[in-house]
Order: sequence, then structure tokens, then C-alpha cells
Amino acid sequence: MTARVLVIGRGGREHAIVWKLARSAHIGEILCAPGNPGIDELAECVQINVTDLDGIVRLATDRRVDLVVVGPEDPLAAGLAGILDAAGIPVFGHTAAAARIESSKSWSKVLMASTGIPTARSIVATDPASGRRAIAEIGGGGPVVIKADGLAAGKGVVVANDRAEAEAALASFMSEGAPGKAGTTVVIEERLTGPEVSIMLLTDGQDVRILAPSCDHKRAFDGDLGPNTGGMGVYTPTARIDQATMARIEETIVLPAVREMARRGSPLRGVLYPGLILTSDGPRVIEFNCRFGDPETQVVLPTTPEDLGEWSLAVAHGSLRHTPQPSSSGAAVGIALASRGYPGPYRSGFPIHGLETAASDPDVIVFHAGTARLDRGEIVTAGGRVLTVVGLGPDVVSARAKAYQAAGEISFEGCWMRRDIAATESQKPGQHEG
Ligand code: AMP
Ligand code: GLY
Repeated sequence: MTARVLVIGRGGREHAIVWKLARSAHIGEILCAPGNPGIDELAECVQINVTDLDGIVRLATDRRVDLVVVGPEDPLAAGLAGILDAAGIPVFGHTAAAARIESSKSWSKVLMASTGIPTARSIVATDPASGRRAIAEIGGGGPVVIKADGLAAGKGVVVANDRAEAEAALASFMSEGAPGKAGTTVVIEERLTGPEVSIMLLTDGQDVRILAPSCDHKRAFDGDLGPNTGGMGVYTPTARIDQATMARIEETIVLPAVREMARRGSPLRGVLYPGLILTSDGPRVIEFNCRFGDPETQVVLPTTPEDLGEWSLAVAHGSLRHTPQPSSSGAAVGIALASRGYPGPYRSGFPIHGLETAASDPDVIVFHAGTARLDRGEIVTAGGRVLTVVGLGPDVVSARAKAYQAAGEISFEGCWMRRDIAATESQKPGQHEG
């Protein structure tokens, strides 16, 4: 018997989740709320917003789904999983209490401090005066990182180069109320240096299944310049993490976090995704996320041979220990195709050409992120990050070539992409130096 699953979300991440679940021996029918035109080819999309919690529970009940898989953090932080629990519907996704590991940065820092999880030194400030003192103490006049406490859709972090920049960020988060209500409590944090890596794992609160590491490129422009975005490209695997480092991450970061959440009575149930900086003193956590990464998911799921349906059901039912350990096969590189102006204001509604040609290569997957289908069937742009074009191959070099070739076949008014995704990783050993 196969399960009927409802996936919550509408982005490239959820397209990748649905794509992977569609290949599961354990999953039959797939519903998605609200989905997107790419997802629509694999699942039945129902136009319910991700924050319409009652609407989601009603849909899950009416359609007798066996499992709900929640993509984004907002519905988790708003308590969707608890409502589904109360309705007796199995869910892959954390309760609001457990989602605090992402939804409150100060709470997450306390968790890390109490368990000795390696992270940046930090001070939590709740008023401007203590904030300024913390900037002086942590930054000493030099670089320091200012983080708004709550979910801020990527706008809650400022990496300040000096005290003036840091104080401006503090003032904007605290007194001007930006971004939204997220900023009344502010975390002032030591700036770490080193390459960034994303680790995503599945957990039922007790056991873990750690997926292959991946590297996101968050800045808008080549050479990691320009403003922060939701992620302009990504690749997996990475030579930055060897087996010994992976074991260290499991022992010093993953297991302590999972165990401490359970000990505190808020066991995790879904994805834990620590963002790490590989410092000269070893890996340190810059943030915990309580959901799959976007665009990391678009490259990690296609290179994970195991069955996501089996894992998801096991996470929801607390039986992850009976499932296979993850392996990883080959490499994948994902390129975000963005609208002109993104991450600032941009226009939408432009026809997208070349989707079928690009996807005709068996080593290419085109995941939809910000697209819409017009009544006459035409697919148009409907977001800042429009598509994630993924190339697959035996190694990062060949996957990268596939991804850029396919990305070049797609066009829309104002389309742009970074040209250096996975470029450093593609260099032969030895090219890193000098
Ligand atoms: P996000 O929290 O995803 O909006 O990302 C903010 C970005 O800020 C991260 O991807 C890092 O590049 C950077 N960042 C966050 N914390 C630190 C830190 N302690 N040191 C250096 N960079 C950081
Ligand atoms: N790739 C960054 C994120 O999902 O938060």
C-alpha cells in the first residue's frame, strides 16, 4: 500500500521534494498546496496558501492524506504541525516549540551555549544601550554580525565591517522596527571567517539521517559580491568536508542539538539544517534552520539514491532507525535564473522560453521557483528567483557544464544568473593555492 502525501509550499525546494517523492516506492498520490506550474506536472496542486493553517488541515482531513510534508519555516513557526497532530494526521515537520531552533536566534544561541555546540561568540541585547555595549565588546570596533531575533526572510542579518555600520544596523533593527517585528531582540555575534557549508539531516527526534553537504552562493554577483539573496546557485558534494570533519559535525553539532531538543521536551521531527562556517578551529554553527534549504534541496535530493518517501513516513511515525543510511551518488550543480532587479524590486509576467529543450537532457532537471501558468498555458515569470536549473554528472565539473548549458537554453526578459557557481570547487586539486 502506498501513502497519499500533501506537500506544503510553492518554491524550487518544494518542486524538488515533490520530484523526489514522485520516485518513491512508498508514495502513491501527491497533493501540493499551493504548488507551482512545475509541481503541477507531478502532483495535484490545490490553491491554499502556506499560512492558511485551517485550510491546510481541512484539505488533509478531507482528502484523508497519510502524511503532510511541510516545506517552508513560516507554517512550522505558526504551529501547523501541532494542529495536524491534534487532528491525528502524520506530519513531517516540527512543532512551533521545536521550530524555535530557527524562529528565535536568541533561543537557538542559548541552546548551543548550554550544550557546548561550537558557534560564534554572541550577546543578546534587548535595548539599544546594551546593544551598543555588545557591539563594542564583541567587535572591538572591527567586524561584527547583527542578527534580528525572529524570522525575517533573509533580511535579518547584517555582517558589519565596523562599529558605525554595526550601530546603524542595530538602530534599524531596534528602533525603526525593521525587518517587521523580528528585530526587538537582537543577537550581536562574532564574525567568523572561512568557507560556508550547508548540512541537512532528517530526524524523528532520536535518530538522524545526514545528507551530503552542499554549498550555497548567497551573494547576488560573481565573486560573492553584492547583496544577500535567497541563493543564486549551489552544488554538491564538496571537497571542503572530508569524512573526519563530517564525523566531527555529527558528534559536536548534530547529535547534541537533536538530543538537547528532545531533553527539553521539544523533539525535532523533520529537517535540521545547520549553516556552518569552516573556521581554522573547525566547523561552527552560524544558524540552525528547521527545514530543507533552498536551493540546497534541488541538488541534494537528486543525488541521494535512497527513498525520501520511506524516510518521511518514518520521521512522522518515529521509526527512522529502521530506514537505510543515506549515500550519495554523483554530483549536481544548480543555477538560479533570476529576474532583472532581484533581490531588489523586479517585474514579473514575462514569457519563459526553452524550458522543454533544457529539460530534454536526462542529466538536467529544471525546478520551478517563481513561475506562473497563464490561462492559455503559457509559463511566465512570477518571482525574483524564477528557476533552479540543475545539471547532474559524475563530478562537479561535468555537472556544472550540464547546468550552464541548460541554463543557456532558457530565456525570458531580464533573465540573469551568476557565472561562477561551483567554479572554485571545479578547480583541480592544487589550483586552490597561489
Ligand atoms: P541568513 O541567515 O541565511 O540570512 O544568512 C546570513 C549570512 O550572513 C550567512 O549566509 C553568512 O554568510 C553570514 N553570517 C551569518 N552569521 C555570521 C557570522 N557569525 N560570521 C560571518 N558571517 C555570518
Ligand atoms: N539556502 C539558504 C536557506 O535555505 O536558508
